[in-house]
Amino acid sequence: MGLKLALVGCGNMGSALLKGWLTLSNSMESFSSFWIINPHRENVAPFLKDKRVQWFSTPDELPHSPDVIIFAVKPLILDEVLPLYTTFDSFIISIASGRPLAFYETIFTSSRPILRVMPNTPVEFHKGVIGLLADMTLKPKHMNIVKMCFQELGFCLWVQSDDELDKLTAISGSGPAYIFYMMEALAKAAESLGFHEETAMALAINTFWGASNYAHETFALGQRPEEHRQRVTSPQGTTAAALKVLETGKFYNLIERAVDAAYTRAKEQADERKSL
Ligand SMILES: NC(=O)c1ccc[n+]([C@@H]2O[C@H](COP(=O)([O-])OP(=O)(O)OC[C@H]3O[C@@H](n4cnc5c(N)ncnc54)[C@H](OP(=O)(O)O)[C@@H]3O)[C@@H](O)[C@H]2O)c1
Repeated sequence: MGLKLALVGCGNMGSALLKGWLTLSNSMESFSSFWIINPHRENVAPFLKDKRVQWFSTPDELPHSPDVIIFAVKPLILDEVLPLYTTFDSFIISIASGRPLAFYETIFTSSRPILRVMPNTPVEFHKGVIGLLADMTLKPKHMNIVKMCFQELGFCLWVQSDDELDKLTAISGSGPAYIFYMMEALAKAAESLGFHEETAMALAINTFWGASNYAHETFALGQRPEEHRQRVTSPQGTTAAALKVLETGKFYNLIERAVDAAYTRAKEQADERKSL
């Protein structure tokens, strides 16, 4: 019997997860229903051709308790959304950034475990990074649900504290946006050199694609990006000239500051309420 999964919120991240689940090679065996609770039907409409997907505008309409409820709404509305789900005896998972486990424990007071998960959008193509944090040792039945939901969606990393999950959020949760921004910058530079907009973007995306794959494949063999960079940087060459500019502009420091800003923001979200 497959898993009955309820997904609360089908926006950017909720729909990336849903696409990821629906396209898993073992999706049919693993999942029997996806109940999507989202105020508007439009976000869910593209998925309804899969008979396992059903849309509900409120949780009152759910036929019975699902095995697992995954919250994918904005952190600011958790205070009003979570209390609507306390009567279900489902395993509770939240992908919201910032709010610590203790916050969920004040709402879901029974002894079931709570799991915080920090995915990123490439889960849609099973190439995500997924941070996981539980408030207690998971029983085999809960561990099995975690494996079914996340193991095949990308690289999974268990962390030990809310703080560590906030740090992971700043790296891999928000990380795809940093990479997209770098792609945009490289494409803009290509345009400045005279390439057509489409060609410039294709050059930038394929350069990131090739370099990422190269780094990923060779990392498994024990090689690091630093070695690859050094190998392709001949002294006095073109790459060396470009890297010198990045170094002078304190590229490392800039990235570190950006990550630090995301980490600080995640910590602020822990106590933010809608009335603020
Ligand atoms: N985006 C990312 O890359 C990312 C990565 C990791 C974690 N997260 C976390 O994922 C969560 C969602 O982020 P997002 O970027 O996907 O936001 P989003 O695109 O704004 O999606 C939020 C969704 O929640 C729906 N919603 C609003 N009120 C609801 C309610 N009462 N019940 C059920 N659904 C409701 C919205 O529906 P309507 O549009 O119809 O109002 C929308 O579809 C956040 O907590 C964020 O921290 C996001």
